[in-house]
Amino acid sequence: MDKNTDFAPVSSVFLLFHDSYSLASASMRLDKYIATHSEATRSLAKMAIKSGRVTINGVATKDQGTKVKTTDEVAVNGSVIDVSGEVYLAMNKATGIICATQDEEQDTVLDFLDGYTHKELHIAGRLDKDTTGLVLITSDGQWSHRVTSPNYVCKKVYLLETVIAIQESYIAEFEKGILLKEETKLTKPAKLEILSEKSARLTLTEGKYHQVKRMFGAMGNRVTKLHREQVGGVSLEGLKEGDFRELSSDEIAMF
Ligand code: URA
Repeated sequence: MDKNTDFAPVSSVFLLFHDSYSLASASMRLDKYIATHSEATRSLAKMAIKSGRVTINGVATKDQGTKVKTTDEVAVNGSVIDVSGEVYLAMNKATGIICATQDEEQDTVLDFLDGYTHKELHIAGRLDKDTTGLVLITSDGQWSHRVTSPNYVCKKVYLLETVIAIQESYIAEFEKGILLKEETKLTKPAKLEILSEKSARLTLTEGKYHQVKRMFGAMGNRVTKLHREQVGGVSLEGLKEGDFRELSSDEIAMF
């Protein structure tokens, strides 16, 4: 086994160069940091730390719980872990958290990204404060443009509950397109799958402001619960509420 190969950068992990990080205090445990930013598993990372093969800023440490930031230089077997490049993350947002990069009073999704201090991080397609589910976060402006721009088709799948019964007639209305208040164009064809009297799955290919709630509002109904399951080919698989993960290179390339 080539020890350094195990600790080679993960092809799908793209973080910015050290001097481009903000000096925010987000940090991550050393074993998790190594496993996140290299091909090594967490247990392999722990073994490397235990056997004294890991240094932080040139100083050897055997403490796997040491907190490190992306501004620190972590080396395994003398090779510095490469954290350069762009960041692509998926988060399962909990209710009550806002999709903003900064807020004086409220928690934002970026406040929960331990270990990621990239100053260009932004949200590719916001959710309302009371909506849960999949949020994509990146440092790559061109990529987020492809996720959110109306010039690209990007499927977004929502699960929802309503205050009154969902009528079969909504299916044809949503397929045809709805003229929402203060809009000049119909919404693009949307697919509605009724799951029960007051719950449904809705697939959109655009992302107008409060679109799902406004579409149901136009039907004289009201959405009481909204959850995003999927954006493009990215799903919430393996992500508990509040957790985040890096996208794979295949997922990144889908947009
Ligand atoms: N549509 C909405 O109304 N709210 C969201 O958070 C997302 C889509």
